[in-house]
Amino acid sequence: MKYFPFAAILLALGAPSLHAADAAAGKERAVVCTACHGGEGKAVIPGYPHLAGQNAQYTAKQLKAFRDGTRVDPVMAPMAKLLSDADIEVLAAWYASLKP
Ligand code: HEC
Repeated sequence: MKYFPFAAILLALGAPSLHAADAAAGKERAVVCTACHGGEGKAVIPGYPHLAGQNAQYTAKQLKAFRDGTRVDPVMAPMAKLLSDADIEVLAAWYASLKP
């Protein structure tokens, strides 16, 4: 068991549960988003986009675009400006984990 701690760390980093952990963190981070995009990523306001089931890379790309001003929206851009890269990653994982 000499290598146990090392193996445990590798497991923790590489296990499929990493995705689930990201999604769980994203759910917590998404509380402010639910006002417009709904609790399960299904928008509550007509015309606002649904996020449930959206490809994680797409969601992350859009959030970064809002944040850096490449994509302009007076409602969504200020939201994205509050997000760190880590926030964006877990949010994208959370929405991707939901049923569309
Ligand atoms: C006050 C309402 C509001 C809140 C709160 C809000 N959004 Fe949005 N969001 C919008 C609107 C409106 C759009 C559509 C913008 C457009 O048409 O360009 C949008 C678009 C998006 C998109 C792009 C969707 C697509 O299909 O391209 C993503 C991703 C997104 N929001 C994620 C989030 C996340 C994550 C949060 C929480 C941190 C959040 N939003 C909070 C209103 C909101």
